[in-house]
Amino acid sequence: MALRNIPLSNSLPAELEKARASSDSLFDLLHPDSLYERPIAERHRILFYLGHLEAFDWNLIAIHGLDLPRFHPQFDQLFAFGIDPDSTSLPKDKPSDWPRIDEVRHYNATVRAKLNARLDQVNDMLLHVAIEHRRMHEETFAYMLHNLAYEHKLKPPAPARPIEAPHEPGMLEIPGGSVFLGRPRNDGFGWDNEFDRHERIVAPFSVSRYKVTNTEYSAFVEAGGPAPHFWRERGGRWFYRGMFEETPLHGDWPVYVTHEQATQYARWLGKRLPTEAEFHRASCGTEPEPLCDNFDSQRWDPISVTSGQPNPFGLVQMIGNGWEWTSSRFEPFPGFQPFPFYRNYSQPFFDGEHYVLKGASARTAARLTRPSFRNWFRGSYPYVYAAFRLAEG
Ligand code: AVJ
Repeated sequence: MALRNIPLSNSLPAELEKARASSDSLFDLLHPDSLYERPIAERHRILFYLGHLEAFDWNLIAIHGLDLPRFHPQFDQLFAFGIDPDSTSLPKDKPSDWPRIDEVRHYNATVRAKLNARLDQVNDMLLHVAIEHRRMHEETFAYMLHNLAYEHKLKPPAPARPIEAPHEPGMLEIPGGSVFLGRPRNDGFGWDNEFDRHERIVAPFSVSRYKVTNTEYSAFVEAGGPAPHFWRERGGRWFYRGMFEETPLHGDWPVYVTHEQATQYARWLGKRLPTEAEFHRASCGTEPEPLCDNFDSQRWDPISVTSGQPNPFGLVQMIGNGWEWTSSRFEPFPGFQPFPFYRNYSQPFFDGEHYVLKGASARTAARLTRPSFRNWFRGSYPYVYAAFRLAEG
């Protein structure tokens, strides 16, 4: 467990530089003329994300942290905030409303040069926020590109092959007991919503050994249940819409679904989703490995739900190969305080409409797999790499 809290580089500036190289590489997957596309109707055009990461760092570190003068106030504002994907009216801007690619690239290079000259004066907290914000956007960007037509994308070399084991589905019993959610203060970086650490008592329950697979969910679709966003029907057969190609549905891959679909499937079987506290209890002792559990950008798509070592309770892939929906609404922990320099990171989403996801997907950075990290999305949001497992009792 301690292993996963070790920083990935020996200094935060070095880690920021690594994260920049990693986010830059995502843009190399695109044909250059694709930057003005909008793969997800509710979100910004791709070009926005090119400017957003640097504008975010600039507004946070240079303006808030160092009080430097602005050199491009228009871009600082244009690229400051993403669209809340929950808004009811879709954006209507045209490609010509946006600046040219070379103007944005020039802005980005200037931001990096100005920040690099002063990174030693910036407090660690702001650097952690910049790094993790960028890492989260790498995943946002991946699932956004997932929805871009294949002809706009350059396919990278084939990823490492998964390690599979026989599929032995079933429910495992987890003894009741105490569990600690959240992080202690003054013990490494955590986002505002990870505080305060507090104890919960969990009653005994059962949880499925694996994430629910495409094959398992197919029975629900055949019975009239809703088809996942990641599936395509052709000639009466279902296909999986992968990042770079469509393939026949892999029966042993986790099914990516919305919270609503996951909940309906569980009810159909007389079961339910685990709560956030139950997930913590069940994932106790989990020590994931990026290649076999499928996280930290080893691959673009899922692998078999059977890959990887079971945890002490016998559960497989509690971290990796798809986030897991919980039945818990995203709510503040007791003692929650928004970061004064980023008040709207979590607070606007404590609205009863967003649900907590735990674990990690194939595109989640290792840094974000600490047990206290909480992800959240609206129950009907179909684009994320979100899987689930069943609970009972
Ligand atoms: C924590 C993943 C839900 O993508 O909406 C990025 C992260 N917040 N920029 C999101 C985030 C602002 C956020 N999630």
